[in-house]
Amino acid sequence: MADQLKVLVICGSLRKGSYNAALTRALPALAPPELAFTAAPSFGNFPHYNADIQNTSGFPADVNAWADAIRAADGVIIVSPEYNWSIPAGLKNAIDWVSRMKEIPFKDKPVALQSASTGQVGGARMQYHLRMALTSIDAIIFGRPEVFVNFAAKKIDEKTGELTDEPTKDIIKQQLAGFAKFIAKVK
Ligand SMILES: Cc1cc2nc3c(=O)[nH]c(=O)nc-3n(C[C@H](O)[C@H](O)[C@H](O)COP(=O)(O)O)c2cc1C
Repeated sequence: MADQLKVLVICGSLRKGSYNAALTRALPALAPPELAFTAAPSFGNFPHYNADIQNTSGFPADVNAWADAIRAADGVIIVSPEYNWSIPAGLKNAIDWVSRMKEIPFKDKPVALQSASTGQVGGARMQYHLRMALTSIDAIIFGRPEVFVNFAAKKIDEKTGELTDEPTKDIIKQQLAGFAKFIAKVK
C-alpha cells in the first residue's frame, strides 16, 4: 500500500522466550491494512546512561540507531512487561538515553502501549509509569482502548509463542484500528 503508516514496535523484554515478544509478533495479523510494522533494533547492549559517556564519546552507535528508527516511524508501539511494578530497567535506560538528544525522537510521536505479564494486573502499573516518562519528553500517547495481557502464560502458548486468547485478540484489533486513526490525525 502506497500510503501505509510505518509503525515501529519496541519490545521491553530481552528474554528469548518473552511473552511480550510473542505479542509483538501477533500484531500484523490483527492490524488494519494501513499499518506496516517494523521491529526496533535492540537496546540490549546500551551502556547504563552516564552523562560522562555522552560528554566524552557522544551517543553510542546503537543508541543513535534506535533513535533513528523512532524518528523514521509514523508511530511507535511499546510492548513491555512490568518489573517490580514499573518499567524494565533496559527500556527505561533506552528512553533516558534518547531523552538527552537535542532532537528527542519521541517528540510529537504517536505512541501506543501494550503489556503482557504473568501477574494479575497485566502490566498496568508499568504502563502508567511509561505514560509519565514519555509525556515528559513530549510523546503523544494513545488513550483507549488499553491492552493489558494478564496471566500471559494462559493466553500465549509457551512452545509456539502463539497468542491464543480470543478476547485479547479482539481488544488488540480495536486498539490497532484506533491507533491507525490516531496516527493519521496527529500527522
Ligand atoms: C525482575 C522482575 C520483576 C517482575 N515484576 C513483576 C511485576 O511487578 N508485575 C508483574 O505482573 N509481573 C512481574 N514479573 C513477572 C513478569 O510478568 C514475567 O516474568 C513475564 O514473563 C515477563 O515478560 P516477558 O515474558 O515478556 O519476558 C517480574 C519479573 C521479573 C523478572
